[in-house]
Amino acid sequence: MAAKLILDDQSIDLNVIEGSEQERAIDITALRNTTKHITLDPGYGNTGSCKSSITFIDGEKGILRYRGYPIEELADNATFPEVMYLLIYGKLPNKEELGNFNHDMTYHSMIHEDMKRFFDGYPRDAHPMGVLASMVAALSTFYPENTPEDVDKNVIRLLAKMKTLAAFAYKKTMGQPVIYPQNHMTFEENFLNMMFAVPCEPYVIDPVITDALRLLLILHADHEQNCSTSTVRMVGSSQANLFISISAGIAALWGPLHGGANQRVIEMLTKIDADGGNFKKYVAMAKDKSSGFKLMGFGHRVYKNFDPRAKILKAASDKLLNKLGVSDPLLQIAKELEDIALKDSFFVDRKLYPNVDFYSGIIYRALNIPTRMFTVMFALGRLPGWIAQWMELRNEPGGRISRPRQVYTGENVRKFVPIAER
Ligand code: SDX
Repeated sequence: MAAKLILDDQSIDLNVIEGSEQERAIDITALRNTTKHITLDPGYGNTGSCKSSITFIDGEKGILRYRGYPIEELADNATFPEVMYLLIYGKLPNKEELGNFNHDMTYHSMIHEDMKRFFDGYPRDAHPMGVLASMVAALSTFYPENTPEDVDKNVIRLLAKMKTLAAFAYKKTMGQPVIYPQNHMTFEENFLNMMFAVPCEPYVIDPVITDALRLLLILHADHEQNCSTSTVRMVGSSQANLFISISAGIAALWGPLHGGANQRVIEMLTKIDADGGNFKKYVAMAKDKSSGFKLMGFGHRVYKNFDPRAKILKAASDKLLNKLGVSDPLLQIAKELEDIALKDSFFVDRKLYPNVDFYSGIIYRALNIPTRMFTVMFALGRLPGWIAQWMELRNEPGGRISRPRQVYTGENVRKFVPIAER
């Protein structure tokens, strides 16, 4: 297949490539050399940065699959370690592979005692995302990587240690002593125990809570070339090490337009609740550009009908709150907002629907996760996806450094003027 580009008096044939789900792309690799032109696509809304076999999204049909498995099936049946393994190594592990994987992650969960002291240096009210990004970067000073074997081991170290770093960051904000990982616990049990146990009182594991966390982690595990994953790939393309590449991904995720939205959603719902639940006022503000107010948790660059993760989380939040006997006024406000927005032409015309961040905070609250930890939870879930994408990039034969071009719109050449003449 080919596309024909007519440019001035030139007619150039450009290759059209087709993916395994019949998505098509015009290959412009040779465009600048043959036409002296580049393309321009601020925000990369129409630009493919790579070929990838990890995650498939169909934004029109609300399809999300990890290595071909529908998110709905993984959400219902998989453990988070199974999904980690699937994303990173490309297949669901058999019993022995999963046993070894869980063993390795368990026995690498502790961080070096010298790293523990870093936490003393942060201010008490340090945002846990800032702590997490810097602590993950610091792992590169303890575990340098020079060989492929180092990289393989560092993948396990990072999968195992990030939940420990996240829980320690939370303990820092609470002024409580850290709780060490326990080797007999599952991934979710260990994280919740490190978060909520205190030396004077053990944390009681509740399977309803650990299963809700399992669901949240799986739903966040990967999402093709989103902002933070593209950042991880960008940094990894310079052959920077795994830890520093993932630290850059954590930084990108923190932004309120991306992973930081889940914290902003709850802050928005809390504000509406405090304002007498007057959600219509906030819908009107969201429609008024001059207000600068956005309906956080709404809209998506790719999903233009619904975010399948939001659908799953909406149902799960209802079920969980019923199981826990908890009623959260913010859930009702969220549902009212969704109802009114889905009937309002402003949102319908712009194809703005609830995204993964809209309901996730309701569940985090039910798990007693504090709001400032919400984006850390997103990062914990997204970690295997970031790693899988980084490894796919690094294992690409002849992989090149990512270096986009630009269209220069500044001053033309001019002579330097000595200060006496300015
Ligand atoms: C995530 O990419 C991923 O896959 C991300 C993610 C993942 O798993 O990695 O899915 C996770 O980041 C989800 C998104 C979380 N962010 C938010 O909920 C923040 C609120 N949403 C928006 O900021 C926005 O919708 C984005 C950032 C999500 C998408 O931005 P786009 O694709 O650049 O869309 P846009 O800003 O150009 O919006 C198109 C129109 C604009 O209006 P017009 O100029 O056409 O009149 O829709 C409006 C926007 O003003 N709009 C909104 C809105 N989102 C878009 N208006 C009100 N409220 C909103 N939330």
